[in-house]
Amino acid sequence: MKAVVLYRSKYGSTKQYALWIAEELGADIFPADTFSAEQFSTYDTVIFGAPIFGGAILGIAAVADNMAVLKEKRLFVFTVGITSPDAEKNLSDLREKNFPDSLIKQAEHFHLRGALEAEKLTFGHKLLLKMINSSMRNKLDLHQNHVSFEAILPLIEAVRRENP
Ligand SMILES: Cc1cc2nc3c(=O)[nH]c(=O)nc-3n(C[C@H](O)[C@H](O)[C@H](O)COP(=O)(O)O)c2cc1C
Repeated sequence: MKAVVLYRSKYGSTKQYALWIAEELGADIFPADTFSAEQFSTYDTVIFGAPIFGGAILGIAAVADNMAVLKEKRLFVFTVGITSPDAEKNLSDLREKNFPDSLIKQAEHFHLRGALEAEKLTFGHKLLLKMINSSMRNKLDLHQNHVSFEAILPLIEAVRRENP
C-alpha cells in the first residue's frame, strides 16, 4: 500500500488527526492545497480530511474535482466537526450536500469530533457563533475539545482491512 493523507485545517484539530493517521499508516502527508493532481499517480490509497464550517466541508474540491483519477484508488474521507459521529442523519445530509455521487459511491466516510475553543477562534467566527448562540435556546459550548487519538482507530482499521 502506498498511501497519502491530504488535509485542510483552520484551527488545528484536522491537522492533528491527519498527523496521527499518517504516522499510524506510515503514509505521506500534505496540506491538500499544496498537493497537485499529478501527484495522485504515486499512490493507491488516498485519505482526505477536512473540517466542516457552516455545513460545508473545507476544500472538498481537492477530491471532488479529481474523481476521474481517484476512481482507480481506495478513497477515504474524514470530516471533523463539532457534530457527534452518532448523528447519522446529519452525516448523510452532509454527504448529500458536499459529495458528488461518484464520491458518495466510492469513498468510505468517517466523522471525527473536533474542538470549539473561543480563545482560538478568529474574531469573525467568534462573533458569528455568539450571534447564533444569542438566538438559540440550546447554546453551543465554546469551550470544548474532543480531539482524541482513539477516534482515528476505526478509520485505521478500515484502511488496513484489505492491506494486512
Ligand atoms: C464558524 C464555525 C462554523 C462551524 N460549523 C460547523 C458545522 O456546520 N458542523 C460541525 O460539525 N462543526 C462546525 N464547526 C466546528 C468545526 O468544524 C470545528 O471547530 C473543527 O474542529 C475545526 O477543525 P480545524 O481545527 O481543523 O480547523 C464550526 C466552527 C466554526 C468556528
